[in-house]
Amino acid sequence: MCGIVGYIGPKEAVPVLLSGLSRLEYRGYDSAGVAALSGGRIQVAKARGKLSNLVEKLKGGAPKGSAGIGHTRWATHGEPSDINAHPHTGASGRVAVAHNGIIENYLQLKEELGKAGYAFISQTDTEVIPHLIEECLKAEAGLLPAVVRALSKLRGSYGLAILDAQTPNCLVAARRGSPLIVGVSAEGNYIASDIPAVLPYTREVYLLDEGEIALVFEDRVEIHSAEGKRVEKELYTVTWSVDAAERGGYSHFMLKEIFEQPKALRDTLVPRVRRGSIDLSEAALSDEDLKGVSRVVLVACGTASHACLVGKAAIEKLARVPVEWDIASEFRYRDPILSPDDLCIVVSQSGETADTIAAMRLARERGCKVLAVTNVVGSTIAREADRVLYTWAGPEIGVASTKAYLTQLLCLYLLAIQLAFDKGLVSEEDYALYLRELETLPDKAETILSSTEPMRRAAELFHAQKDIFFIGRGLDYAAAMEASLKLKEISYIHSEAMAAGELKHGTIALIEPGSLVVALSTQGLVADKLESNIQEVRARGAQLLCVTYGDTDLREKLADQVLRIPRTVDLFAPLLSIIPLQLFAYHCAVLRGYDPDKPRNLAKSVTVE
Ligand code: AGP
Repeated sequence: MCGIVGYIGPKEAVPVLLSGLSRLEYRGYDSAGVAALSGGRIQVAKARGKLSNLVEKLKGGAPKGSAGIGHTRWATHGEPSDINAHPHTGASGRVAVAHNGIIENYLQLKEELGKAGYAFISQTDTEVIPHLIEECLKAEAGLLPAVVRALSKLRGSYGLAILDAQTPNCLVAARRGSPLIVGVSAEGNYIASDIPAVLPYTREVYLLDEGEIALVFEDRVEIHSAEGKRVEKELYTVTWSVDAAERGGYSHFMLKEIFEQPKALRDTLVPRVRRGSIDLSEAALSDEDLKGVSRVVLVACGTASHACLVGKAAIEKLARVPVEWDIASEFRYRDPILSPDDLCIVVSQSGETADTIAAMRLARERGCKVLAVTNVVGSTIAREADRVLYTWAGPEIGVASTKAYLTQLLCLYLLAIQLAFDKGLVSEEDYALYLRELETLPDKAETILSSTEPMRRAAELFHAQKDIFFIGRGLDYAAAMEASLKLKEISYIHSEAMAAGELKHGTIALIEPGSLVVALSTQGLVADKLESNIQEVRARGAQLLCVTYGDTDLREKLADQVLRIPRTVDLFAPLLSIIPLQLFAYHCAVLRGYDPDKPRNLAKSVTVE
């Protein structure tokens, strides 16, 4: 998704902007640009494609100046091109703007501005903004009132960095619906859509709230409300390191993040387990609150929605509370039945996914209490939800979610166990047993990661497949959904996840000699049934890759390849069974020549509908 960087200070701006943009590359983008201000003139340089194309272009002469803004664009309105890349400038060249988000009323504004004589050169929605600010500057005395006036006319979402040639001592940052921070340092101040962009320079940041506008000077920052009134705000100190946001010796972020999973599990679990009981007080969830929950609604997108499928199974099985599961983009438009007694849980790694935010707001409007499970402190979801349970996975840079998924599962398991215990549905012995087992899981994840050769070998054997089918029953089906998404999003092999019993109702027609079926087999209750489904595809010539416990006695020749995981309580198996399949997906992608950190057409954080 798009990234924004801005700088004003004693240094030359463009190198700072490029370094910040390179730290945002992981968000996914298709063009990049910078603008800098010097001698009362804004110069802009933009290039389609990777940041390296822009760097190459700048060798022929870069914009000069110690105030500037930069952007990586992920196309929404208009194809990826030099012209559509940001920053965009107003008709007179006085104002330049970098924008994340979507302006919904841009066609109407374009028409109005067109009538007032403004000519448009791009296909973007963004271009209306600099024109509009220039128009408002005619009526207002000063940049801030002009920006306030212009923003009041915009509908939709924006994170904005604005440069005005006639206000050279200041940049403007504005946020509505798209995250933005302002970094503060002794060597100038920064604007960014994401904290990693400024981490090499500062850990002190302002997290802008909805509607806020920041005037960013070289030596100070003023924050104002949407109406232009001064707002006092506290600085937030970032506690994680630049290193944590960089690859640290691994060939890809995804691989690093897969290997960080034991730590992520420990970091998420340890603070929540005290003297043999689960403590969710940080989320202000008391035993009394949990006792009163009569229905749970789980909502998320993509991988996070797969975590919710596991959460649904765990909550229903242990706490016997009905759970409704939905993907956020459907939930928000289907007029869901919600009541104030429901607990709505939204799950999001980034905390900025547009559909999940909308689902959360809808649930709150209808009187539900919303609990967010998220990885990003200060994200929109973290700030707007009634309660927050953080997944302490650390920054997840790879577009394919791995460690965030595992920690989401863990948070949902903790909730399910505590909910069941508070409702008197889990005995003290079982409660203790579940906790003891959860505490072994980081080590068990480490055991899987200590021997990854079988996953690489499986990828070597199967990476040339055109289609791969994942099957499982119960919780294995939920894990299969995630395994299938992981594979397709980074290796571009078509894959589907099926409830194993459903295969023969249609999809089995696709199985032919040589097809690959990946079977997850960790659920004792349905192991025999799954075996029959495996036999059905074997009989039609399918090859079989099986994920199961180390001590499962697999019938001779049932599988061509087996990926083993340490035994755990079947309920927790998704926490382990996904790990070999993440690695399988990773190696398939690499062997097929693709960069798993930057899958085509995808973005880390989907901040548009
Ligand atoms: C999965 O690997 C993707 N990154 C994607 O499905 C992701 O989980 C989804 O877009 C939701 O993102 P969120 O957790 O940041 O809300």
